[in-house]
Amino acid sequence: MKFFIDTANLNDIKEAKDLGILDGVTTNPSLMAKEKITGKSAIFAHYKAICDIVEDGDVSAEVIATDFDGIIKEGLELAKISDNIVVKVPMIKDGIKAISWFTANDIRTNCTLVFSAGQAILAAKAGATYLSPFVGRVDDITWDGIQLIEEIAGIYSMQGYMTEILAASIRTPLHIVQAAKAGADVVTCPLSSIMGLLNHPLTDIGLQKFLEDHNKGNK
Ligand code: G3P
Repeated sequence: MKFFIDTANLNDIKEAKDLGILDGVTTNPSLMAKEKITGKSAIFAHYKAICDIVEDGDVSAEVIATDFDGIIKEGLELAKISDNIVVKVPMIKDGIKAISWFTANDIRTNCTLVFSAGQAILAAKAGATYLSPFVGRVDDITWDGIQLIEEIAGIYSMQGYMTEILAASIRTPLHIVQAAKAGADVVTCPLSSIMGLLNHPLTDIGLQKFLEDHNKGNK
């Protein structure tokens, strides 16, 4: 399972990159706004900065347009920023039409705001490179986000679809483990969830004892 970080914060991206486990970055308009990146040229420059940190990983950059012509125009501009860019397109009628067009023109896409198996089938038929089902937001309405990943993974494997399942809206380290078990190809999460994977009290206790024993023997 690939690890993407779900942020536009350059320090968090650098920290994940330094761990040596970073395969890519996903962003969205809310994450860009959180970093106070506004205006087309600033947004494009920020994407370029993210691509430079990630080096050879994928970076999802989301279109703002919701009509076919607008999505294509914006997607082409975004794709020109760097080879790392994957054009992120919402799961709407014109979005699916645009994903089909991008697929035919060798531009990679991430179909976002996915909440059902039906939507997942449509995105795969259009040839999306990645599919982003929002695990946490499904959980928010007391449905089961991980069950959705499992359902889509079953369908994709049975039908031989090539679209990669990118489990998004991941909120906790447990979500990461569950997404891996459910068959996600990629997980995208905040740095805090990735770091949370490190923690185990027995590791801390064990390490403390090893160091104490070493120090006793080396006085
Ligand atoms: O990857 C999508 C993500 O950014 C949404 O996360 O926590 O706002 O549902 P969240």
